[in-house]
Amino acid sequence: MRIAVAGKGGVGKSVFVGTLARLRARAGEDVLALDSDPMPGLALSLGVESPDAPLADAVGRGPDGRWRLRPGIGPVRAVQRYAVIAPDGVRLLQAVKVPPGGGSPVPGTAQGFREVSRRIGDAPAFRDWTLVGDLSAGPRQSAYDWAEYAQTIVVLAEPTWQSALTARRILRIVRTKERDAILVATKVRSAVDAERVAQMVGESTFATLPADEEITQADRRGQAPIDHAPGSAAVRAIAALGERLASRR
Ligand SMILES: Nc1ncnc2c1ncn2[C@@H]1O[C@H](COP(=O)(O)OP(=O)(O)OP(=O)(O)O)[C@@H](O)[C@H]1O
Ligand SMILES: [Mg+2]
Repeated sequence: MRIAVAGKGGVGKSVFVGTLARLRARAGEDVLALDSDPMPGLALSLGVESPDAPLADAVGRGPDGRWRLRPGIGPVRAVQRYAVIAPDGVRLLQAVKVPPGGGSPVPGTAQGFREVSRRIGDAPAFRDWTLVGDLSAGPRQSAYDWAEYAQTIVVLAEPTWQSALTARRILRIVRTKERDAILVATKVRSAVDAERVAQMVGESTFATLPADEEITQADRRGQAPIDHAPGSAAVRAIAALGERLASRR
């Protein structure tokens, strides 16, 4: 399975990607989670401490002055050296990180991450791996193709106009590039909610994920949803959606 998840801020991208990654790893798959969001949402939902300056030692300036992976560090080595290991053996590679006190991320790390995400899809060492990506909020990263490894872009929308309009825009951008994109409704409380998402976005939903108080509780406690509430409705729905995505080719 090779997917990346996009959508407006707060729709549940990180909860979905982190939980899916853990579930697929438990099922025996080698899983690499790629986080291109500078805020540590995915690390939280995976249940791992996020590294302070991921990829900082992996990048350098080339002769042309541009940042790139240093000579001798390809995408495979970058993951081997700089990804952190989350519970269930999930590897997490984070693009850039805004330092806890604010300010700018380490220079060059975003470019290094983009290079990994551009090349990892073709790396023979990762041919059998499950790749799941968490894109930062809004359409920008979809537009500039931060997830070239993904066969499908999963666009999440909750039952609000703002998130629906963002989803519509991302779906259009992704399909303009002749890539596969599907719509998933999140934080759905009823069949009416699910129908509203479809109507607001203007297309049918591939799946829906329920609004689930247990997920909110997990966040309050700073725990990964799958650790706090493995049997919750949302985690079960993510597992079912994972099965469908795995068989979608
Ligand atoms: N199915 C759900 N039911 C209830 N609450 C949820 C659900 N999914 C996510 N949430 C809550 O919504 C909030 C945002 O979730 P999450 O961080 O996954 O969103 P995001 O799309 O990654 O946001 P951002 O764009 O800021 O990274 C969190 O407080 C999370 O606990
Ligand atoms: Mg997030």
